[in-house]
This record gives sequence, structure tokens and C-alpha cells, in this order.
Amino acid sequence: MLTVQNLRKEFHSGAGPVVAVDNISFHVPDGVFAAIVGKSGSGKTTLLGLLGALDTPTSGSIDVSGDKITSLSDRQLIKYRRDRIGFVFQAYNLIPNLSALENVMLPMEFGGVAKVERKARALDLLQQVGITADEATRKPAKLSGGQQQRVAIARALANRPSLILADEPTGNLDSATGKVIVKLLHELARTKKTTIVAVTHDLEIARQTDLTFKLADGKLVGQERNTPPTAPKPANDPPVKRGVVRV
Ligand SMILES: Nc1ncnc2c1ncn2[C@@H]1O[C@H](COP(=O)(O)OP(=O)(O)O)[C@@H](O)[C@H]1O
Ligand SMILES: [Mg+2]
Repeated sequence: MLTVQNLRKEFHSGAGPVVAVDNISFHVPDGVFAAIVGKSGSGKTTLLGLLGALDTPTSGSIDVSGDKITSLSDRQLIKYRRDRIGFVFQAYNLIPNLSALENVMLPMEFGGVAKVERKARALDLLQQVGITADEATRKPAKLSGGQQQRVAIARALANRPSLILADEPTGNLDSATGKVIVKLLHELARTKKTTIVAVTHDLEIARQTDLTFKLADGKLVGQERNTPPTAPKPANDPPVKRGVVRV
């Protein structure tokens, strides 16, 4: 569960202050996959960085599963990032000289999990994201982009986070593979009751999530709940209009 209240981030550069995130409030329940959309410069990356505690807001609060992360000390923030957040990046950011399995085991090592358990949990996670035992032994360069992103998602899940943050997770993938990755994230949100927030500029991807937040000039200018795809209807029924409903 994620609750953001009156969040604001100002940057002070030579050209004067820039309000990158301007008084934003929203809520994403457990098990919900949300997308943040908006043009380049609208504040998406800044917002994601605040949610992941990579940067501190000028004012406002962020609550993750009951913890007000905007009141944590630097020491607590390190622990928060390691134990509560899973990051997924556009360029996968896997460590090239480690196998897929070792990449997934690594965050658990930082988290103090014993080696036998690290390996068992990593293999299980890789299987859940559709990576075979053979693929798990390969280094990232020997995997396709879609497979690398699956490994990166397994890595993000390693320490059982309550929030997964993804910055353009399908940005380097062809659209068919991108859709499969979005479907996987959707299933993970539901089955693991995790909150997922993904930044994307791809509206088709955004429509496949549960909830879409639209940013413009640092402000939240739209919020739409996306209808799940409807089951196929008998041939003689009138066509069903799919799309978004305003909330
Ligand atoms: N470190 C920074 N210093 C100054 N301005 C910044 C910094 N980071 C982002 N900005 C500005 O904040 C605004 C939002 O940027 P960003 O969050 O990167 O947008 P997006 O990810 O939607 O493209 C832009 O005007 C950008 O120039
Ligand atoms: Mg950005």
C-alpha cells in the first residue's frame, strides 16, 4: 500500500527554482499495479525517486505499508530501500559477470539471508517469472532482452518488497515482449499482494495496468481506473466497448 500526500520537490538551479513534483496526492492499495504517465519533463522520474527514497521531498509525506518513509533517518532509509523496495529499470541493470541466478541471489546476500536459502529462493523466483534452470545458469549477455527483464523482476522480488518501482520497464523491449512483461507484473501484484508503480510513456502499456496517474508540469492532472479485459462474448452479442472509466 502506498499513500502520497501533498508531495512537492523543488530543484534550485542557475535558472531559478523548478517545481518537478507539485503538490501530488494519491493512493495505491496492495495488489494493485499502477502506471504513471506524462510527457518528458513532467516529473515522472523525480516522483519515482522520491517513492524509492533515492531523493528527499521538499515537503509532503509518503507512506508505504504503514511506515512514513519521509520521517526515516538516513540509516533507516538504507534498510528501507534494501528490504522494502524492488527496483526495475529500463536497461535491466543486471551485473554482467554474474549468472542470472547469482544476480537474483545478490540482494538477499545484502539482506543477510543464508546461502542455501538464497539459492533456493532465487531458483523459485526465476521459475515464477518463467526462466528455466538452464537459463538461470547463463550470464545476462546470453539472454534475450525479455529474459533479462524477467531476471531483473525476480531480483526485485528477492527480499519480498512491499513496493516495486519500475522506470520504463518495457522501454527497451519490442511491443509483444513488453506486453508479456506487463502481464507478468500484473500477476505478481495480484498473487504477492505487492504494490507496483511503473513509469511509462507508452499509453498502451499504461492501459493494461489497474490504475493510471497522469502528470503534467509536476502536477497530477488525471487518474483513471482501467477496466480489466472482458471475457470473449458469444458471436451474436453486440461488441463490448472496452476502455477506461473515470474515478
Ligand atoms: N537534479 C535536478 N536539478 C534540476 N532540475 C531537475 C533535476 N531533476 C529533474 N529536474 C527538472 O525537473 C523536471 C522533471 O524532470 P523529470 O522528473 O526527469 O521528468 P520526466 O521523468 O517526466 O521526464 C524537469 O523540468 C527537469 O528538468
Ligand atoms: Mg524520466
